[in-house]
Amino acid sequence: MTQVKQGAVSDEKAIGTQNLFSPFTIRGVTLPNRIAVSPMCQYSATNGLPSDWHLVHLGSRAVGGAGLVIAEASGVEARGRITPGCAGIWSDEHVEPWRRITKFIKENGSIPGIQIAHAGRKASCALPWNGGASLSNDKGGWDTIGPSPIAFGGDLTKTPREMSVEDIEIVRQSFVDAAKRAVAAGFEWIEFHSAHGYLSHSFYSPISNQRKDQYGGSFENRVRFTLETSSAIREALPDAIPLSVRISSTDWVDDGWTLNDSIELSRRLKNAGADLIDCSSGGNVLDAKIPTGAGYQTSFAGAIRREAGIVTGAVGMITEPAQADQIIRNGVADIVLLAREFLRNPYFAHDAAKALRQTDKAHWPVQYGRA
Ligand SMILES: Cc1cc2nc3c(=O)[nH]c(=O)nc-3n(C[C@H](O)[C@H](O)[C@H](O)COP(=O)(O)O)c2cc1C
Repeated sequence: MTQVKQGAVSDEKAIGTQNLFSPFTIRGVTLPNRIAVSPMCQYSATNGLPSDWHLVHLGSRAVGGAGLVIAEASGVEARGRITPGCAGIWSDEHVEPWRRITKFIKENGSIPGIQIAHAGRKASCALPWNGGASLSNDKGGWDTIGPSPIAFGGDLTKTPREMSVEDIEIVRQSFVDAAKRAVAAGFEWIEFHSAHGYLSHSFYSPISNQRKDQYGGSFENRVRFTLETSSAIREALPDAIPLSVRISSTDWVDDGWTLNDSIELSRRLKNAGADLIDCSSGGNVLDAKIPTGAGYQTSFAGAIRREAGIVTGAVGMITEPAQADQIIRNGVADIVLLAREFLRNPYFAHDAAKALRQTDKAHWPVQYGRA
């Protein structure tokens, strides 16, 4: 089997040799196929503790044949949650409930991953089905932090406190501790959430970072938080465990973060020890006009893979087996991540195996083997 070295696009770049059901090895981990469940907040945790809902939600996608199941954005600090219902990994208490879930995912043939996250200025919000607006402190909300005291806008009215350098060090250490706990909980893939306007993205985007110190101003300074945190996480992880970084490949506005910035950041992330860039976009600008449509972010994964020489994940309105297969066969990305399609159809991977005539590669649980 091709061993993908850390951060490098392997020989399998030879286009046409891999498909959606080719195994994929990074470090000590082999995904049985290239289909990943994209992280999806479920807003169903209490004090950050995952519940039976998470076991069923994540477990059923493993039963459904996804090669990688990434648990939702999980707060590395309580104040880093988007809502009071968001999952967490900020204390040792979180380890056992997550372990129950990782064990089930592994027993069913998938690799369990977790997205470690800090929501920054977009923290302290009501649950989406309660409107999703900023939650005042007297209604269960909390004070937020960010690179600069600039509120996101719209319903997210909270102005974050500008982080001191000491605050930055504390949050970086929280990511390190969270990564170690995630490994202790049985996760075999760690994703650092640096997209969608949350803390890490808000540092590298000029829209939300107007600092005058070494963490703001130039490109070099704005990417410092993301790079330092990635390096620190990498150092804390065992060699066998892959680290992916989800970035917003563009802010979709003039004067914002661009694809070229993402390519340069990805080169540096590779040097910082990241193994794969998960190429999303947007989330940092209230009224950005995003041209959504089938595969609308896939070209970012292709450009970053080609220009930065690092393996990538494509995400965003990938819903059809042939579409997903083409992304891999054409060497545009190394894995595909699906979110909403997996909500509609937990068995997407099994259906894809059938549609692509690869049923010998589907890993149905024995209980369902006669299906
Ligand atoms: C219910 C829901 C929750 C989400 N939560 C997260 C999350 O925790 N972290 C993240 O990076 N993206 C999150 N996303 C974004 C998805 O991971 C994905 O990037 C996006 O939905 C586009 O993919 P899709 O078109 O396949 O849904 C969420 C999306 C949905 C629908």
